[in-house]
Amino acid sequence: MRDLPQSSDLLAWYDHNARKMPWRIGPAERKTGIKPDPYRVWMSEIMLQQTTVAAVKDYFERFTARWPTVNDLAAAADEEVMAEWAGLGYYARARNLLKCARFVSNELGGAFPDTVEALLKLPGVGPYTAGAVASIAFDQPATVVDGNVERVMARLFDVHTPLPAAKPELTELAERLTPQERPGDYAQAVMDLGATICSPRNPACGICPWRAPCQAQKAGTAAELPKKTPKKPKPIRHGVVYIARRVDGAFLLERRPGSGLLGGMLGWPGSEWQETAAPPHEAPIKAEWKTLNTEARHTFTHFHLRLTVCSALVPMDRKPVTGHFVDAEEFDPGDLPTAMRKAFDLYRGA
Ligand code: ADE
Repeated sequence: MRDLPQSSDLLAWYDHNARKMPWRIGPAERKTGIKPDPYRVWMSEIMLQQTTVAAVKDYFERFTARWPTVNDLAAAADEEVMAEWAGLGYYARARNLLKCARFVSNELGGAFPDTVEALLKLPGVGPYTAGAVASIAFDQPATVVDGNVERVMARLFDVHTPLPAAKPELTELAERLTPQERPGDYAQAVMDLGATICSPRNPACGICPWRAPCQAQKAGTAAELPKKTPKKPKPIRHGVVYIARRVDGAFLLERRPGSGLLGGMLGWPGSEWQETAAPPHEAPIKAEWKTLNTEARHTFTHFHLRLTVCSALVPMDRKPVTGHFVDAEEFDPGDLPTAMRKAFDLYRGA
């Protein structure tokens, strides 16, 4: 292939334009021999899956301040980690984060493996994270493919196959470009290029370090790539949640089962969520329930959720059928996943 994009052009751009991030060792620091902490790289990459850099920053700062090493995190209680993760979404990531920390701490002496192959054996670590940790933390020439990289490759090579079918082709192209020199900086440089210059809409081709070899730029197709197969519309699921407040201010909460949606998180007891309008349900405690006028709405990856919110005040001696009362001083709505927090916000505003 003629005019293959040169990693040196991208790295020269990255030297001056790398974004500052709390987990990143920038190109200047790296050149002085400072190495990234694999624990911080791993944590940031788990958090960044399906989540924006802006949303991750505060969570990353809080997690690493509270648990500065993988051994600290491994020793944390499940409930504390789940509460700290509340609001970030995709809660299986938090469960796997803890599983992985315990494995690294207990079975590997607290040291993360430095090869893609060994990293892939860790809980919650797939090809993306294994490649990211191997390259960013250990400077291995591993290829990292996220949405940004897919877009950059689709444009550089003017690939019109729609995603997700195009993924293998784009991965192979990304592999072909991955250099032996500075692979950690290179992996982050391609992602930064995709997040800033080679953006989904209005790419800034005029200032792109890879303008000359970019085939979409030549063809005038950059802004319309990558093509995507249209997604199916999301169905609407309905459910009911019950917010019971005891006269002393305690709330009736329930920890959800360890697997499945919102698995391991604290929430309001309630019905299953179904596509039919009124799923069968039973209140978690006997009371005079009132239904709020407004539903809580939250969108998950595969469906829109609408929760009917019921509330009641209950006497001290009433025993719940499910769930447990959490004292007013111990209850923090920030510990709830967003869907459940929205229900609480409606209740509080009611
Ligand atoms: N997106 C996910 N991980 C990233 C990283 N390390 N640098 C830039 N963008 C990212």
